Amino acid sequence: MRLKGKIALVTGAAQGIGQAIAACLAGNGADVVVADLDEDRTRDTVELIRLKGQRALPVRVNVAEWDAVKCMINQVLKEWGRIDLLVNNAGITKDGLLIRMKEEEWNAVLQVNLTGTFYCMKAVVPSMSKQRYGRIVNIASIVGAIGNVGQANYAASKAAVIGLTKTVAREYAGRMITVNAVAPGFIDTAMTQHLPQDVRGSLLEQIPCKRLGQPDDVAEAVCFLASDAASYITGHVLHVNGGMLMA
Ligand code: NAI
Repeated sequence: MRLKGKIALVTGAAQGIGQAIAACLAGNGADVVVADLDEDRTRDTVELIRLKGQRALPVRVNVAEWDAVKCMINQVLKEWGRIDLLVNNAGITKDGLLIRMKEEEWNAVLQVNLTGTFYCMKAVVPSMSKQRYGRIVNIASIVGAIGNVGQANYAASKAAVIGLTKTVAREYAGRMITVNAVAPGFIDTAMTQHLPQDVRGSLLEQIPCKRLGQPDDVAEAVCFLASDAASYITGHVLHVNGGMLMA
């Protein structure tokens, strides 16, 4: 129970990696705010958290809208009093080769993955700063480090999340707020399920561990960075990719 008594907020927590992170945080003793686009879809995650004996607060939010993010943070502070851990996990893809990528596809991915992360940190940092305690974990991607054909928008957003993470880590280390990123490789979720069999096959050849990652593989890394065991780690990018990239 490394996180006993802590209050966590996870964005994009209705499914996939975000759901696994929320469940892992609850399994370690945290109460969890389950934030996602559609409050109805948060039901399964809420149930998982309650089964672990922790409180869950479902919240509807579009992280791409500043007013919605501010409203969510104010609601949580009003209902639960504090936020100790923030996990910026909400993310989308809109793939296409550079010359075919529409400006709307570029903007939409940047707005959710990068600007959404900026908004959530900007909204939560004042209260963390006041309480002189905070843990922020941003979900980046291996693609932000090595690029990927057809993902110019996504790769740019995730590389930028890494720069943003390091900057906010420097700005708030003195306030006992750590800011780190977890960069998953290819993880078995809805986001990767549409990959054609041959692409999956060639991916597996590049992964020394010879399997796609599971959401729990990422969740355990996030829980470590969110814990007091990681209090001297900030501005770090923790790669969770089965050895696909050894940086
Ligand atoms: P997913 O598509 O299964 O789940 C994403 C969740 O985010 C959904 O519940 C969705 O409703 C929510 N969401 C999307 N836009 C939102 C918005 N504007 N506001 C609030 N919530 C929103 O995705 P998955 O695979 O679980 O990915 C989670 C994170 O991990 C993303 O940031 C993704 O980029 C990152 N990632 C995923 C990898 C993979 O292989 N699946 C690899 C590397 C990074």
